Amino acid sequence: MSGIRFVLNGSVVDVEGQPPTRTLLDWLREERGLKGTKEGCNEGDCGACTVMLTDARGTRAVNACILFLPQLHGKAVHSVEGLKGPDGALHPVQSAMVAQHGSQCGFCTPGFIMSMATGHANGVTDHDTHLAGNLCRCTGYAPIIRAAEAAAAEPVPGWLAEQIDPATLAGLTDTTPDGCALPRSSDELAAWYAQNPEGRLIAGATDVGLWVTKQLRDLGPVAFLHAVEDMRGIEVTDEAIHIGAVTTIADLLPAIAPHHPGFAAMLRRYGSVQVREAATIGGNIANGSPIGDSPPALIALGATLYLRKGDDRRALPLEDFFLDYGKQDRAPGEFVEAVSIPRQPDRLKCYKLSKRFDQDISAVLGCFNITVTEGTVTAARIAFGGMAGVPKRAVAVEQALIGQPWTEASVQAALPAFAEDFQPMSDMRASAEYRLSAAQNLLLRYFLDDQGLATDVLEVMA
Ligand SMILES: Cc1cc2nc3c(=O)[nH]c(=O)nc-3n(C[C@H](O)[C@H](O)[C@H](O)COP(=O)(O)OP(=O)(O)OC[C@H]3O[C@@H](n4cnc5c(N)ncnc54)[C@H](O)[C@@H]3O)c2cc1C
Ligand code: FES
Ligand code: FES
Repeated sequence: MSGIRFVLNGSVVDVEGQPPTRTLLDWLREERGLKGTKEGCNEGDCGACTVMLTDARGTRAVNACILFLPQLHGKAVHSVEGLKGPDGALHPVQSAMVAQHGSQCGFCTPGFIMSMATGHANGVTDHDTHLAGNLCRCTGYAPIIRAAEAAAAEPVPGWLAEQIDPATLAGLTDTTPDGCALPRSSDELAAWYAQNPEGRLIAGATDVGLWVTKQLRDLGPVAFLHAVEDMRGIEVTDEAIHIGAVTTIADLLPAIAPHHPGFAAMLRRYGSVQVREAATIGGNIANGSPIGDSPPALIALGATLYLRKGDDRRALPLEDFFLDYGKQDRAPGEFVEAVSIPRQPDRLKCYKLSKRFDQDISAVLGCFNITVTEGTVTAARIAFGGMAGVPKRAVAVEQALIGQPWTEASVQAALPAFAEDFQPMSDMRASAEYRLSAAQNLLLRYFLDDQGLATDVLEVMA
């Protein structure tokens, strides 16, 4: 028997006999009696279950409610119980929360504390962004932000670093836990998936986690992808930006920012810090969601998708992967290995419309990549989320623009073509009429943005 081995609050634990889809939250509370980590939504939305996760890649805040135990193998976890010093001294963010009156009912407080401690360890200064995944319904955010600011001047307590010895962590992965596959390379994953084509791949579990916590589904045989290091990371060459499938959204954001700042600005509104630290680009593509945020941006940039099945690899334009609602061009046993974006001058803007600014799924997401040469539109790639059963290009709109002078009149003349490209549906996020009209307005916004007008909701003043 071989268990899942990780460091919990400074001590190595070896967990045996748990199903691979046991969440860290349930295990902490039910098996360890560590009830400081709270269950609010149990679906990644509220941050009450935030814990601190550390491995060779650094320290980050993640939601324990949608984190499965095998995802911890070889890592270190701090729950709120493990944050204080051996002599009982409070962590600086805890002292600051007391001093700034940052807690009332306290239900959200452990999650805030763990997010704040992670931000503190990483020298975060944008506390609004960092804490956007933590909801508080009593205290209000001002005292909490004040506490995060006040704690920033204090050093990171030595005891936290002492509890995470890299050599200890490295030694924990000598074995593979029973009951699940934990491939370490694309080759190992390909071999497992060829033998288990009906098996389930789990990358960040920000979708799959909810199938377990909300739909109570039995996933059958599972393989976890987080240790497939040769499918992680971003490589920039003269020709392309190559993104491995298990690259997290948190890692993609700063890497893409110098090349396509509009893509990065949109990713800033993807879920929350906790979600972005777990969610992968491969999962965001493979799930085939019509409202996934990265596919429209990637399609507008002309991305190529790389798929692998056994030893066979193939590449296809990303837009061709999405066949119909819930249907992708992916055979049993085939997985997403990477996606790449051709290098190009940056003309991309992405506009995400959702009811909340932070931590909300798109009602409509429009991504525009329009090339203008000497005043004339010479190329256009426009892709939308939320407008059809799949992420989809606005081909008729593109054709209406290409060859036309880049003027407001041309943009206005292209607007009726949206109705040829899209017959959106009405749902709880938006009506069909709103979606169509908003999509048209986003093209106008792109044009105005391109003329230098302030169109960002954070810049425009009444
Ligand atoms: C609170 C919350 C907020 C969210 N906000 C957003 C948002 O703003 N924008 C957005 O787009 N999404 C959002 N999501 C959805 C989710 O984060 C994304 O779809 C995410 O990218 C999924 O990636 P993952 O690695 O977590 O996938 P997982 O949940 O691990 O897997 C998702 C699906 O993809 C499959 N899969 C994963 N990797 C591969 C691979 N390499 N090859 C083949 N199949 C694979 C899995 O088998 C599964 O079917 C949110 C989710 C939550 C819980
Ligand atoms: S309980 Fe709400 S994010 Fe985990
Ligand atoms: S103090 Fe009650 S939810 Fe934050």
